[in-house]
Amino acid sequence: MAAGKLVYNQNCLVCHQADGGGVPHLNPPLSQTDYVLGEKARLIGVVLNGLDAHEPINDEVYSNVMPAHNFLTDQQIADVLTFVRNSFENKASAVSVAEVKAERAKKK
Ligand code: HEC
Repeated sequence: MAAGKLVYNQNCLVCHQADGGGVPHLNPPLSQTDYVLGEKARLIGVVLNGLDAHEPINDEVYSNVMPAHNFLTDQQIADVLTFVRNSFENKASAVSVAEVKAERAKKK
């Protein structure tokens, strides 16, 4: 969790904010969203590949583009997603290095 928080502060906080609340209309919150609490493969994919869908997230659309974060190591992504899934009022299972590795291997 401590390692994940460090990755978060250095790579995600600028857009998703310290409290995971995001910025209205620009960057979505990371609290209680289907992405964060849902299927881990999809969540890992968002971090590896970024997101440029602008589809509603908890009934709001966000206009910024999430950049790909494939420069982070499997360990860093596992740590940051475990942190996010257990912060900002979320409670969900940890993400493992093996799960990130498997998703990265799928990348076209
Ligand atoms: C430059 C700003 C920016 C940075 C940096 C950024 N994001 Fe995002 N993120 C976004 C935007 C904008 C979207 C929504 C894109 C869309 O709707 O198409 C998004 C979407 C998401 C989503 C899916 C939607 C949701 O709210 O659940 C997750 C999960 C996520 N980001 C996690 C992260 C994590 C973890 C990091 C750090 C490793 C990170 N983001 C870094 C801007 C950013």
